[in-house]
Amino acid sequence: MEKKKGGFTGSLGFVLSAAGSAVGVGNIWRFPYLAAQDGGGLFILVYLVLVLTFGFTLLTTDIALGRRTQKNALEAFGSIRPKWGFLGKLTFLVPALIMTYYTVIGGWITKYITVYMTGQGAAATQDGFFTSFISSPVSSVVFMLVFLAVTALVVFFGVEKGIERFSKVVMPGLLVLIIGVGAYTIMQSHTAADGTVRTGLDGLAVYLIPNFEGLTFGRFMKILLDAMSQLFFSLSVSMGIMITYGSYVDKDVNLSRSIGHIELFDTLVALLAGAMIVPAVYIFSGTEGMSSGPSLMFVSLPKVFQGMGPVGGIIALAFFIMLGFAAITSSVSILETLVANCMNIFKTSRKKMCLIIGGISAVAATVICMGYNVFYFELTLPNGSSAQLLDVVDYVSNSFLMPLISFLTCIFVGWVIKPKWIEEEMVASGHKFSRKGLYSFMIRFVAPVIMAILFFQSLGLVK
Ligand code: PHE
Repeated sequence: MEKKKGGFTGSLGFVLSAAGSAVGVGNIWRFPYLAAQDGGGLFILVYLVLVLTFGFTLLTTDIALGRRTQKNALEAFGSIRPKWGFLGKLTFLVPALIMTYYTVIGGWITKYITVYMTGQGAAATQDGFFTSFISSPVSSVVFMLVFLAVTALVVFFGVEKGIERFSKVVMPGLLVLIIGVGAYTIMQSHTAADGTVRTGLDGLAVYLIPNFEGLTFGRFMKILLDAMSQLFFSLSVSMGIMITYGSYVDKDVNLSRSIGHIELFDTLVALLAGAMIVPAVYIFSGTEGMSSGPSLMFVSLPKVFQGMGPVGGIIALAFFIMLGFAAITSSVSILETLVANCMNIFKTSRKKMCLIIGGISAVAATVICMGYNVFYFELTLPNGSSAQLLDVVDYVSNSFLMPLISFLTCIFVGWVIKPKWIEEEMVASGHKFSRKGLYSFMIRFVAPVIMAILFFQSLGLVK
């Protein structure tokens, strides 16, 4: 059978590849640290509601736009209404920004892979290990470059062969490990220096049970913005990536069902990762330790692995390798989008574009790495958290740009081309669009209002 270049083989191939893009460090590194920072249960509750409403709406929009237009994000909007072409260009900014710091985190994971490969697991449990690594100007850049090189190689040889092969093995394996390590953590307990005993089960309760005590409007809004930014990031929506993926999907694939599977899988991995990491942080550092932000996973997990005895090192190695794969499948999807779009703009070959963008990314990511040493600063973001360069870029792309893009997309789909345009694509394969009513209500009324509020909040204008 003739296949178009970059196309997916059938519905399973599509779901796995989209899940490969969606499931990444967002689920395992970003979700747990936000949940911990925002006090656990309430964040989870808000996030779940958002996935079922906004996540579904945005994912459906992106994928259907891509499949119906058969174009990537840069051209999709303009091909429907030339006046809206600017929106495609705007979405392009997001993967460009994310690419600059995703490889930095990929580098951190690569570092931990080598730590466990060389049997230095005990050193990683020391206070200050992680901080001294990211603040060393050379080694954090070297590991980032290794991760970036692997990503670029996969893209260099084309999306289909690259992504599909990875996703099928990695995703289930990662899930099994997360469940195993999580179950182990929950059964642990630790006696702190002051004699208090904290158990994993207490930690799980903090993670899952919403605590409404002392909740103010401002705090609720912060949780909402955090959860929404996480949703965008985690599902890879509103940044053109899922539009590109949509354009690769065969016409006979049941989109409605595939979208449900992607949402479910992505959320499940995030929830389980949180259930593994948050109790671990709680055991070793109590609720105060929960606000530590981006370093959370890298600081708390080594202690759990250490507590497992001799097998801990092997499990840790397996964990970081699988996490590395999950991160690669995501970073591949980001680079792939950048390359595919630039190939169109500059009319050059994939290989050449891949080298150029890889080079630019390397420079940009080096600057981000330096945000922890040469350019170190502490900035207070409009949402109150203290940020370094990486957090600032993350904030601009996920908290500021994405609500803006989603707002414009909702206006475009809900009021310009009308939800029917998307609905037609959803049923084009002869399958039912089961959440049709919810979709059109969300895209026309709920989503634009909330996105506008969040956009203003990200600027610090709504308190
Ligand atoms: N969704 C990916 C994750 O959760 C990250 C990602 C962001 C991938 C943007 C593609 C685009 O890690």
